[in-house]
Amino acid sequence: TIPVITIDGPTASGKGTVAQRVASALGWTVLDSGALYRLTALAVLQQGIDPADEAAVADIATRLDVQFRPGEVWLSGESVAEVIRQEHVGNLASRLAPNPKLRAALLGRQRAFRQAPGLVADGRDMGTIVFPDAELKIFLIADVRARAERRAKQLIEKGISANLEDLLADMRARDARDTERSVAPLVAAKDAHVVDSSTLTIDQTVQSILDLWSR
Ligand code: CDP
Repeated sequence: TIPVITIDGPTASGKGTVAQRVASALGWTVLDSGALYRLTALAVLQQGIDPADEAAVADIATRLDVQFRPGEVWLSGESVAEVIRQEHVGNLASRLAPNPKLRAALLGRQRAFRQAPGLVADGRDMGTIVFPDAELKIFLIADVRARAERRAKQLIEKGISANLEDLLADMRARDARDTERSVAPLVAAKDAHVVDSSTLTIDQTVQSILDLWSR
C-alpha cells in the first residue's frame, strides 16, 4: 500500500507549512484538506448558497472544479490561493465543516490524493477518518498564544494589519467549534504521536516528524 503520514491539529499550529516541508523532504504528494473546506466556503459565497442548507453545500463540494499546483490553487479556472486564506473564508469553512453530507462529499476527493510514492495529509480528521490506516500519525499542537502570534506575524508580513487580542479570540472560538462539534471533532487518533511545536522552530518540527518516520 502507498504510505501516508497524517498531520492533524488546531488552527495555526503550523500544519500546512510542516506538511509541505515533510512532503518535499520525502518527495511525496501533499494534501491540504483544509483548502477543500475553504474552497467550498468560497464557492458558497460566490454562488450565494445558504450555508445552513446542508444538501446544497454538499452538492457544491461534489462539483468543485479544483486544480492544485505547488503554491497555487484554481477554482473554476480562477487563481484563488490568496483569497481562500482570508479569515472570513476560514471562518465560514469552519462553520460549514460539521455538515456530515459535506464531509462525505469530500471523502473520495481526499483519498484520491494517495499516490505513489507517498502522501502527507494535513487537516483535522486525516488520522481518525480519512486515512485511519496511515503508517504515521502526528497530532501537532501549540499553545493558543504561540499560534496567535504566528498568525499575526504572517498577516503583518503580508501587509495586513493584525490585532493580537482579536486573533486570540478568533482562534479560541475556532478551537472550540472544531473540538466540540459532534461530527469529526478535532481529536488525536489513538495511535497518533503528539508533537508540541510551541517552542520548536519549523525546521525542528519537520525534523522530529522525519525522525519518527525513519524509526
Ligand atoms: O488555517 P487553519 O488551520 O485554521 O484552517 P484549515 O486547516 O485551512 O481549515 C479550515 C477549516 O476547515 C477548519 O477550521 C476546520 O473546521 C475545517 N477542516 C475540517 O473540518 N477538516 C479537515 N480535515 C480540514 C479542515
